[in-house]
Amino acid sequence: MAEKKTFYITTPIYYPSGNMTIGHTYTTVAADTMARFRKMQGYDTYFLTGTDEHGQKIEKKAAEQGVTPIEYVDKIVAETQDLWKLMNIEYDDFIRTSQERHTRIVQKIFRRFYEQGDIYKSEYEGMYCTPCESFWTPTQLVDKDGQKVCPDCGRPCQPMKEESYFFRMSKYQDWLIEYIEAHPDFIQPAKRANEMINNFLKPGLQDLCVSRTSVKWGIPVDFDPKHTIYVWIDALSNYITALGYGTDHDGLFQKYWPADIHLVGKEIVRFHTIYWPIMLHALGLPLPKQVFGHGWLLFGADRMSKSKGNVVYPQPIVARYGVDALRYYLMREMPFGADGNYTNESFLTRMNADLANDLGNLVSRTVAMIEKYFDGVIPAWDQAAAEPVGDELRAHCAQLPHLVDEQMDKLQFSQALAEIWKVVGECNKYIDQTQPWVLGKDAEKKGLLGNVLLTLAECVRFVAVLIRPFMPSTPERIFEQVGIADEALKTWESLERFGALPDGLRVRKGEALFPRIDVQKELEALSGKAEKKEEKAEAKQEKKEQKAEKKEKKKAEIPEGCITFDDFGKIKLRVARVLACERVEKSEKLLKFRLSLGEEERTVLSGIAKFHTPEELIGKKLILLANLAPRKIMGIESQGMLLSAVKVNEDGSETLRLLTADPIMPDGAEIG
Ligand code: ME8
Ligand code: MG
Repeated sequence: MAEKKTFYITTPIYYPSGNMTIGHTYTTVAADTMARFRKMQGYDTYFLTGTDEHGQKIEKKAAEQGVTPIEYVDKIVAETQDLWKLMNIEYDDFIRTSQERHTRIVQKIFRRFYEQGDIYKSEYEGMYCTPCESFWTPTQLVDKDGQKVCPDCGRPCQPMKEESYFFRMSKYQDWLIEYIEAHPDFIQPAKRANEMINNFLKPGLQDLCVSRTSVKWGIPVDFDPKHTIYVWIDALSNYITALGYGTDHDGLFQKYWPADIHLVGKEIVRFHTIYWPIMLHALGLPLPKQVFGHGWLLFGADRMSKSKGNVVYPQPIVARYGVDALRYYLMREMPFGADGNYTNESFLTRMNADLANDLGNLVSRTVAMIEKYFDGVIPAWDQAAAEPVGDELRAHCAQLPHLVDEQMDKLQFSQALAEIWKVVGECNKYIDQTQPWVLGKDAEKKGLLGNVLLTLAECVRFVAVLIRPFMPSTPERIFEQVGIADEALKTWESLERFGALPDGLRVRKGEALFPRIDVQKELEALSGKAEKKEEKAEAKQEKKEQKAEKKEKKKAEIPEGCITFDDFGKIKLRVARVLACERVEKSEKLLKFRLSLGEEERTVLSGIAKFHTPEELIGKKLILLANLAPRKIMGIESQGMLLSAVKVNEDGSETLRLLTADPIMPDGAEIG
């Protein structure tokens, strides 16, 4: 027996720096749809997704919340996996870059690059965007209000310099240009290949900085452990470490590599079509067959992104309208490759038009008519009554699997769905043309009426099978209504012949597949929901305040101005050593501190910039009110308060000094 053809597809591994958005869901649903489609066609498929957990941003986020990086990402990873379950995502593996199976091999890969001279040690100097974890060259930075900002997120970059390892990308540049030109399918859509060649390869590749000494939350370079491996070598390797590359158990790697498709958003095409191919080539490995850079789901005019905070999350939409409606919308609304806007209105409109009206009505009318005119039993084909009026529809529907396959080969999900919905539309037109309710009044037309309804039922079956990869649960509901229980009638192979639907199946009217919705009302409900939430939060706050007041009154017996021993016990003062201190941009008053409490670090803001310079404070041991509830000031979370003494001068002005502790006290020493 011939072995099945394999199909290996991946999503980017996402940063678990915050919860996954509808944008991450978009890529993941696309990959899942593609994997399901190929699986249905008989491929031996492997679908990998996961999380990219290292780096400075996550290190910082964790510190802000006072947890370790792994604690921080564990929580988000669990929520991500819940989301994929909710979205009916059937991945074969979920790789986390913090897993030992990954880190060990990345170290091995890094060492090999070093030993064969692809990596060398030098010094890095450049402008760095912390939220995006990207260094930018001066020409890549964008001017905004006289400031040089990150071309991705529009926020200011900081100059940064450090000892680093570099990958000699320049050595492979000519090879890569040739490779891309000789493999026109490698980078899709094709225009992105031109962008890569013209914008990055032809001007000359810069060697890539591949290690950091300033980031601790990363995979250490095993032969120089003060360095951690910088995110892209770490991240990109996931596509092969997940398959067991470099281990004794590399069966999956042998079977599935090279990948058929890496699906990525367009902003990371560069990493996947330049650095990744070069890394693979340096390892002597074949390149993925295709990297597809899809467009962005926009929200208003902006790209949705965690770092910008303008995000739509899928959960509330799914809770109200179901997974299949959202999956359908994501794959249907915008051509894969182009950008598109998410709006509640376009979602609701599509749900009504395509799902409730076109598909929902077709199924319910077909089933209702078979019940009415044939007592619910699908009639047999009556050759004597063959009606040419349906020939075109039958021929078209017979072609449909091929038409869908053609679009799926190009990852044109929306076009594939458009092809399916063309047939749905034709079916509805066919009903209007043949007017079964008129045929039903004429006993002589019974044969023709049967043929019409059988044709419709078979078309519905084709449609249901073909939407399986897109909408995993709706087809079962259709099969149930049309009375199809036999699994063999739900397969891709069963579509080889139009007319495979046997007669005699008993249909069963069910609930509407998709209820028709009042768009205006739903829009209000969607925004109203938000209001209610706010009200609830306000009520909660009020209750809290009342409680606090009561407590206050209880304390009335205590002399004015005094606190109790218990009260004092609540105050946690600690010795905090200043690791770093800088002015907060756009603020005259604020200094931002990075403090060591021994086993943990804190970020704290203090309004003392007029009284102290940052330099004089570094290394000082200060007194921190350590259990003050965190508070956001100018977008930065402050985790505590530094104590100071104030003196009022003769002219009414004030002089302020931070309190310090004896230098022999260790970081974090408790004060009481
Ligand atoms: O870039 N529209 O992770 P990330 C479309 N860890 N797609 C979107 C999207 C949007 N608004 N928002 C997110 C990283 N995506 C790296 C990848 S891979 C070796 C390392 C999708 O969390 C899209 O696929 O920033 C995009 O490329 C990816 O999420 C970025 O996820
Ligand atoms: Mg990103």
